Amino acid sequence: MTNVVVIGSQWGDEGKGKIVDWLSERADIVVRFQGGHNAGHTLVIDGTSYKLSLLPSGVVRPGKMAVIGNGVVIDPHALCAEIDKLAGQGVTITPDNLRIADNATLILSLHRELDGIREDAAANTNGGVKIGTTRRGIGPAYEDKVGRRAIRVMDLADLETLSAKVERLLTHHNALRRGLGEQEISHDAIMQELTSVADRVLPFRDTVWLMLDKERRAGARILFEGAQGSLLDIDHGTYPFVTSSNTVAGQAAAGSGMGPGALGYILGITKAYTTRVGEGPFPTELTDEIGQFLGERGREFGTVTGRKRRCGWFDAALVRQSVATNGITGIALTKLDVLDGLDELKICVGYTLDGQEIDHLPASQGQQARVVPKYITLEGWKESTVGARKWADLPAQAIKYVRQVEELIGAPVALLSTSPERDDTILVTDPFED
Ligand code: GDP
Ligand code: IMO
Ligand code: MG
Repeated sequence: MTNVVVIGSQWGDEGKGKIVDWLSERADIVVRFQGGHNAGHTLVIDGTSYKLSLLPSGVVRPGKMAVIGNGVVIDPHALCAEIDKLAGQGVTITPDNLRIADNATLILSLHRELDGIREDAAANTNGGVKIGTTRRGIGPAYEDKVGRRAIRVMDLADLETLSAKVERLLTHHNALRRGLGEQEISHDAIMQELTSVADRVLPFRDTVWLMLDKERRAGARILFEGAQGSLLDIDHGTYPFVTSSNTVAGQAAAGSGMGPGALGYILGITKAYTTRVGEGPFPTELTDEIGQFLGERGREFGTVTGRKRRCGWFDAALVRQSVATNGITGIALTKLDVLDGLDELKICVGYTLDGQEIDHLPASQGQQARVVPKYITLEGWKESTVGARKWADLPAQAIKYVRQVEELIGAPVALLSTSPERDDTILVTDPFED
C-alpha cells in the first residue's frame, strides 16, 4: 500500500480531476499542493458535472478529507464562492471534510488586477510578453510569497499583525502601481477585503503538515492532486509561457509539508493527443481540420476561462521528458475515445532543430519556437471506444496505439479513460497497491 501523486504530464487539462475522483474512492485524504483557482478540474458522475478549481476533487465523495496545502495560493473570495456553488449541487463542505494550511498564501484583488494589467499591457506593447494567463492573480501572488511580503491564512486571525503586513504589502504594490499609471490602493480597502472573509475561512485552517504526519503514521492513504501540467512548470516548462509554481511531482512534498518518502506512486495523467491554452510553443499543434476535429470531439474549451484550447498530435518526446522530471511510475491515458474514426494518427518521436536531430525539447525559448517535429504514422480505428470499460472492448489498432505510446514514453499505462464519466475507466494496475 502506498500514497499516490497525480500530476499532468503535458500542458494541463489532461483529465486529472476525473482520475483523482476515480482514485479517491481508494484514498482517505486528497491534497492539493500547488497552483490555485487557475485550475479547472471537471468530474462527471452519473451525468452530473462538477467543476472544481481550488477544492481538491476528492471533496465530492462523502467521508474523505480534502486538504489545501501550503503550496497553494488561495483567493478567499473564490474559495467561498466555490464552496457555495458546490453546496448548491448537494456537496456539503465543513471543517469535517476540508482543511486549509494556515501557512498557505492568499491571493488578493490587487493580485488579480495586476495580472490583468500586465496581460493587457503586454498585448499592446512591442516586446511585451503576453502569457495568456487565467488572470486570476496567480503569478503576482507567488511573487509576493517569494518576496516575503505575502498575507497568509493565519494572518486573518491576528488583526494587529495583519494591519502591519498590509502596510508593507502596499508599500510595494503602490510603488508598482504608480509606475504603471494605476490608482493607488488604500490600506482600509485591503483590510476590509480580508476581514470580510476571515470568519468564513478561519474555521478550515489547520497545521496541515502535522495533521498529515499523524494520519500517515496511522496508516491513512493519501492522494496528492496536482494542477496544471509539467510543461507549465516554472522550471521545467516552456518558460516564460508557464504558470508560477512547480507543477512536477516533487512539489507534492514541499507543497503539503511531507517528506519525499511519503509520495509513493507517481501517476502522470496523459491525454492521448496534446492540447494547450494560452500562448507559447506547441510543436505538434494542428491548425487544420484535424485540429478542429480534436477540439470539437474532445470539447476542448477551458473550464476556467472558456478559451478554445489549441490541439495537436501526441508528442511522445515531451511526455518522455515529463516521465523523467516527475519520476512517473505509470500513466493514466485519457480521451483515447476522441481519436475514434481518424484514418491515421501521428505521434511525434523527436525533433529537428536547425538541421540537427534532437530527442527532447531544449530549454531556450528561441529554440523551442524553431523545433520541427518528427512523426511516425499509425493506422487509426473505425470502431467506437467511447465508454469502454474492459481492455478486451478496445479495437486492435487502439491497443497498438496505446502500446506504442508506452514504448515511446518509457512508462506503462496504469489506467485508461474512455469518456468523461467516472466509471468509464479501465484499471490495468492499481497505483495504491503497486
Ligand atoms: P484537468 O484540468 O486535468 O482536470 O482536466 P479538465 O477537466 O480541465 O479537462 C478534461 C476534460 O476532458 C473534462 O471536460 C473531462 O470531463 C473530459 N474527460 C476526461 N477524461 C475523458 C475521456 O477519457 N474522454 C473524454 N471524451 N473526455 C474526458
Ligand atoms: P488545470 O489544473 C491548462 C495556463 C494558462 C497560461 C499559463 C499561465 O486545469 O490543468 P496562470 O494563470 O497560471 O498564471 O497562467 O498557464 N494554465 C493552464 N492551462 N490547465 C490549467 O490548469 C492551467 N492553469 C494555468 O492558460 O497559459
Ligand atoms: Mg483543467
